[in-house]
Amino acid sequence: MESRIQMSNCLPTKRPEAYRSCSQSLPLDILWLPRSSFRPAEGELADCVLVVGVSRPKLAAALLSVTLLSLFLTFHVLYDSALYSIQAASMASAASEGRKILQSQESGRSISHPMALRKRLKAPRTPRPARRLPQALIVGVRKCGTRALLEMLYLHPMVQKASGEVHFFDRDENYALGLEWYRSKMPLSFKGQITIEKSPSYFVTPEVPERVRAMNSSVRLLLIVREPVTRAISDYTQLRSRATPSAPAVSLVGHPLPDAAKPFEHLALAPDGSINIAYRPIAISLYHAYFHRWLEVFPREQILVVNGDQLIEDPVPQLRRIEKFLGLEHKIGRKNFYFNETKGFYCLRNDTTDKCLRETKGRKHPRVDPAVVTKLRKFFVQHNQRFYDLIGEDLGWPED
Ligand code: A3P
Repeated sequence: MESRIQMSNCLPTKRPEAYRSCSQSLPLDILWLPRSSFRPAEGELADCVLVVGVSRPKLAAALLSVTLLSLFLTFHVLYDSALYSIQAASMASAASEGRKILQSQESGRSISHPMALRKRLKAPRTPRPARRLPQALIVGVRKCGTRALLEMLYLHPMVQKASGEVHFFDRDENYALGLEWYRSKMPLSFKGQITIEKSPSYFVTPEVPERVRAMNSSVRLLLIVREPVTRAISDYTQLRSRATPSAPAVSLVGHPLPDAAKPFEHLALAPDGSINIAYRPIAISLYHAYFHRWLEVFPREQILVVNGDQLIEDPVPQLRRIEKFLGLEHKIGRKNFYFNETKGFYCLRNDTTDKCLRETKGRKHPRVDPAVVTKLRKFFVQHNQRFYDLIGEDLGWPED
């Protein structure tokens, strides 16, 4: 207002009605003034001159602020877009080392455009993670180190693992859900990475080899085995700890002990002292009885037999063999392991992990009568030999 008043005061007073008619009272205080206002009073009054003045300082300040804010936001958006492009480019180059990215995506912490303008800005091309059917399976054998093997392989940046045991091929109710269901259970992976799933009961379930072949006839198969008597005792230990956490040591009068609470010796041997091959932990250790089914469906070179005892002693050489078998660059080395005296096993580490396996892995076994151990070992000699013949390698398991 002030400026208008000042301007009005400067006007010649001679013919006020002439320029009053030109004057418009607009919200932004735009005044139409006769040209004569800038000339001597006797000049031509026909023309009007547009004069714009700031008459409302608060409004002007608000407008100025809005303008500055818009400018700031524009630069901010441009800056963030540039940053986003750099992040996306580094994602592309990290495809081979995509673990961290996938982990953050799985946990919902995806790299997002800061200004939520993804729809409007053209997103740069980035490698797309997807759930893929496994290209490799750890098919067994239970209690031979299947979990340790999976976790150790997961140290490799090009490996993605299904977190739980999916039991797709061995459980009819899961198999009936189809491959898309199976795929949905797989982790995100980049192209070129290998997805691995492990379900140890695949090894002993008759339908599985054929079902696996139907999914992918060139799938890579890993079979980890361990000295059969130790495996049977490990199996027994697990069954006992699961079934009867507080099992009584002796039978109550008139109540037979549940199987899991009986000593291993009573279960592994029949009352006449012969080997009880109907006892599941013994039966599963007869590897050749299951392995031949796999060989009927898959060529031998598509199955790698991993030595579970050596994986416990010194994991790296076994992992080297597996990396080669899976066509992976050698990445897992001694730096990835340290021996934990308390646990009595190797623990794992890389850039993102530092862990030992859970306490259910590496349990203390009960003492088993050495005479029974010897008897069992002798029993297994011929069965082991049949297994060696099938795999074409002597694993040197003790014979007494
Ligand atoms: P025990 O608990 O009898 O010692 P799975 O994962 O197939 O159930 O196998 C369990 C076995 O993995 C364990 O059996 C243990 O011996 C073996 N294992 C191999 N490497 C291991 C490791 N680094 N940490 C813990 N257990 C390991």
